[in-house]
Amino acid sequence: MCRKNVPVLKIGNLEICPPIIQGGMAVKISEINLASAVADTGCAGIIAVAGLVEDVNFFSKELEKRNADELRKTIRQARKNTKGIIGVNIMVALSNYDDLVKTAIEEDVDMIISGAGLPMNLPKDLNGKDVKLIPIVSSVRTFNMICKRWQKRYNKLPDAVVVEGPKAGGHLGYTYESLEENTTQTLDEIVTEVILAANAFKPKIPVIAAGGIFDGKDIAHFLKMGAAGVQMGTRFVCTDECDAHINFKMAYINAKPGDITIIKSPVGLPGRVIKNKFVEKIQSGKTIPFNCRYKCLKSCNPKEAPYCIAKVLTNAQIGKMDECFAFAGSNAYKCTEIIPVKELVEKLSEELAIEIEHQSHTLA
Ligand SMILES: Cc1cc2nc3c(=O)[nH]c(=O)nc-3n(C[C@H](O)[C@H](O)[C@H](O)COP(=O)(O)O)c2cc1C
Repeated sequence: MCRKNVPVLKIGNLEICPPIIQGGMAVKISEINLASAVADTGCAGIIAVAGLVEDVNFFSKELEKRNADELRKTIRQARKNTKGIIGVNIMVALSNYDDLVKTAIEEDVDMIISGAGLPMNLPKDLNGKDVKLIPIVSSVRTFNMICKRWQKRYNKLPDAVVVEGPKAGGHLGYTYESLEENTTQTLDEIVTEVILAANAFKPKIPVIAAGGIFDGKDIAHFLKMGAAGVQMGTRFVCTDECDAHINFKMAYINAKPGDITIIKSPVGLPGRVIKNKFVEKIQSGKTIPFNCRYKCLKSCNPKEAPYCIAKVLTNAQIGKMDECFAFAGSNAYKCTEIIPVKELVEKLSEELAIEIEHQSHTLA
């Protein structure tokens, strides 16, 4: 689906056109269905790995194995569904992170995208395989730290980098206070700094902008700045193929601008969600006691956590909206319809082509 004028996002030998990576969305919001449909359009489809196994009441070793087995099965099924590009998103914060990375590499996914913490040792088990490794950063400082460490320890650089700004959905790499007070750098500012740093390498490291990118005009804006592509999450939620329950999608359709808010998550990071009764309850300090026999997140202290994030996000995926929140980007309220992925990507691609054409006339 590569239109005239629309540039290809090249990551090594991978060619993604239109230059869009679908953001990984846990728990089970971007799974086999969404990722394969996106990959079919020429974009990159990403399976989010956190929470593939629902039952959090297993003893740790058993759950770890089940999670890795489930990941293997999921990747194989997605590969059967599509010939397109399939990657996985693995959060550094997961207790069995190393195991999941190893499994994804064994299964030869096209790319591993990794954030929610600093993926300092992501190349550890690569063993010369051609799996593209892509960290998610929120500042040029963390980008430089990762490059330095990977170069020194693994003689490797990131194959691309996702720069996720403060308008993204899900967990965010900023302090709660800076988001509340609006004192973070803007995505434009961070992307500019990271492009400067990424272009100093030979070959240049492709920079992918993420967070609040909603239409073709937004995509064109970041391409014009020198980004090689974009990552979009929110926009793919309101598609027929998205793996979330219809109630989850409808929370987006019904959201108004004032409904998008920030919460403190037991992951240890702030998260952007759509306000509802459950969010009001936890924001007012109410807690939901739970038993945990398996600490799925490195940073979670089940004795002190106000609620189980795995349980809440599983409720979200199955549509129990009064017992959960929906993670969402700051532009979720702009979603007005649920459409097939193919239609969405065609629309974005057309808008992008028109905007690029417009830019070329303005420059001429
Ligand atoms: C429902 C939802 C779940 C998400 N889950 C994850 C996740 O598991 N791991 C991750 O790195 N990012 C996650 N994100 C962030 C997206 O991958 C993406 O980078 C971000 O949403 C981009 O901003 P946008 O939603 O404004 O397009 C999530 C976002 C949403 C909306």
